[in-house]
Amino acid sequence: MKYSGPDPQRRHDSLISADEGLSMFNEIAGFYDRTNKILSLGLDGYWRRVAVRTLDPQPGRVYLDVGCGTGDVSLAIATHSHAMGRVIGIDPSEGMLRRGIEKVARKGLQESISMLRGDVLNLQFPDASFDGAIAAFCIRNVTDRKRALSEIHRVLRPGGLFVILELIEPDGPLMKPLFRLYSKVVMPIITGLMSSIPAYRYLSDSMAEFPRPGVWAQLMSDAGFSETGSRPLTGGIARIFTGKVPIA
Ligand SMILES: C[S@@+](CC[C@H](N)C(=O)[O-])C[C@H]1O[C@@H](n2cnc3c(N)ncnc32)[C@H](O)[C@@H]1O
Repeated sequence: MKYSGPDPQRRHDSLISADEGLSMFNEIAGFYDRTNKILSLGLDGYWRRVAVRTLDPQPGRVYLDVGCGTGDVSLAIATHSHAMGRVIGIDPSEGMLRRGIEKVARKGLQESISMLRGDVLNLQFPDASFDGAIAAFCIRNVTDRKRALSEIHRVLRPGGLFVILELIEPDGPLMKPLFRLYSKVVMPIITGLMSSIPAYRYLSDSMAEFPRPGVWAQLMSDAGFSETGSRPLTGGIARIFTGKVPIA
């Protein structure tokens, strides 16, 4: 991953191409969980739990975890209030998936969770196959967001809820400068010690570049989702977006 700042000539929605994203996630897979925990000051698990509570998984239902990575959201769905919903996680990165599959096996949850190689831009599932879908920290990295939304809309049944958990640069007069200080000064020190500075420089740049909540809600509506909404978590550093596939 040779990320060295946003390319103004880029032809995709994300700051990096699909190939660059793939090699970045394969490269950081081994230290992804630990670095996330440290950089988010332990809040990443809380944010995922709130997102899964918003999805509200029910027994006997089937859920899609888009960009499942190392599997924390899939695990949270499968164990949510003992709901034992069935989860299919998809991700293009073999490195991230391998870690996820190991975690699922360690918890003995192979009956409830399948993790497969897949791309949200071309989902391998028939129309209306899922009761709900979730994408945690994934959509920011996807090269064609309109296509991703339309694919997720296609595979959800009518009434199905889509929950997005995403990191975005906060707006507030206090949080924005605090976040900039944290991302420009503290993050490079931590990531330099632990992992890959370019990958985490990409993280803060892509958070700043992600569409503002109103723009994103419009993109979801344009893709056919109804009842779109969003709410900030932790002063707006993370945000939950929701939308439903209308019934009829
Ligand atoms: C920051 S990680 C998030 C992983 C996990 N959801 C979590 O909560 O930690 C983003 C994931 O999105 C995946 N991703 C990137 N582009 C994708 C695409 N086109 N389709 C599906 N997943 C994608 C990456 O491979 C990576 O595993």
